[in-house]
Amino acid sequence: MTQLTELSIQNFRNCASAQFEFSHGLNLIIGNNAAGKTAIIEAIWLLATGRSFRSQKSHHLIQHNNSSATLFCQTQSSHNANDTHKIGVQKTLDNTLLRIDGETVKSHGPIAKLLPIQLLTPESHKLLEEGPKARRQFMDWGCFHQSDVFMSAWRNYQRGLKQRNHALKKRLPKEQVQLWDQTLVDSALKIDEIRQDYLEALTPYLVTFCQALMPEIESEVVCQYRAGWPKSNEDLLALYQGNFTKDLQLGHTQYGAHRADIRFKFNNQEAMNILSRGQQKLFVCALLLAQASLHEKVVNEPVIMLIDDLPAELDEIHRTKLLELLQILNIQHIITTTSEDLIPVLNPDTYQAWSIQTGKITAK
Ligand SMILES: Nc1ncnc2c1ncn2[C@@H]1O[C@H](COP(=O)(O)OP(=O)(O)OP(=O)(O)O)[C@@H](O)[C@H]1O
Ligand SMILES: [Mg+2]
Repeated sequence: MTQLTELSIQNFRNCASAQFEFSHGLNLIIGNNAAGKTAIIEAIWLLATGRSFRSQKSHHLIQHNNSSATLFCQTQSSHNANDTHKIGVQKTLDNTLLRIDGETVKSHGPIAKLLPIQLLTPESHKLLEEGPKARRQFMDWGCFHQSDVFMSAWRNYQRGLKQRNHALKKRLPKEQVQLWDQTLVDSALKIDEIRQDYLEALTPYLVTFCQALMPEIESEVVCQYRAGWPKSNEDLLALYQGNFTKDLQLGHTQYGAHRADIRFKFNNQEAMNILSRGQQKLFVCALLLAQASLHEKVVNEPVIMLIDDLPAELDEIHRTKLLELLQILNIQHIITTTSEDLIPVLNPDTYQAWSIQTGKITAK
């Protein structure tokens, strides 16, 4: 299901009210600093994922002096114009209401399945720089969309881990800690298998997009997956049992799927250490395009790409290259910029633009 046809925003950040009818190609939102560009991208991300990438506090998201923010969008299958869904999210200070086609839903999972959205922001290079959490989230996005059992394994794992860590922190008797070991092992092994398969399927696409965006790098990228525990002769259950005393000292579980990571290497050197800042951004673009291509192949629907502040990300040549790739891959893209001149319009037939000034949207 994968085009956004409509978006409406009420009382979100500095935007009192805004409506968009999107094109299936390039959608450009143009505005000066503090106009509210990131707020629009954030609103779409919040609809799709249930989270903001800037703040988890509802009172930051709801427009000042209002009690709720309401977001609504309509999606359409790229194969069948009659196959549409209406998705709504309403945030109050202490509650979030989610709706699909008028029916209330309890969790964001079903919405996330309907709205496979990828995000590129000026902070995206942190995927390489910072700790493993962002890389796990990247990998798990793909696993979630492509495997029907991933979500339940992940939820079981999180539940088990929380209980085990709680028991360790409270120094409960050993049996109460170990009560959770088998649950953790079963779900960790499932997650591990899905993640490995996913990365294996992703790698050829990543190699292709790295070559397209950074032809100056001659060596092929290698993805090294780390499970989150040493894969020696000892199995994970034995590892939990053998490390009980250490876990008790630390007050948390050392090993498991929550510690997984990916190392990206060129010529046996960490990508982060050899790529320039611009190349790091291009590498993240290649990761997202690889993920988008694999998603399209497996799910048979394209993703939607949000790009906040494209000029800050890339130079003119690479901006054009990225836009060309998005067009070839048939990915609907919603982009913000401070200046229209910085974005080449490759196909005027699938182009829509808006200007934004202190939260007010005007179609161009
Ligand atoms: N809850 C809120 N209520 C009202 N205004 C808010 C709220 N949260 C943020 N703002 C204001 O919204 C404005 C828009 O911020 P936003 O980050 O979306 O702008 P931007 O166009 O992305 O700017 P830049 O080009 O600098 O990245 C800011 O002036 C900010 O102070
Ligand atoms: Mg911004």
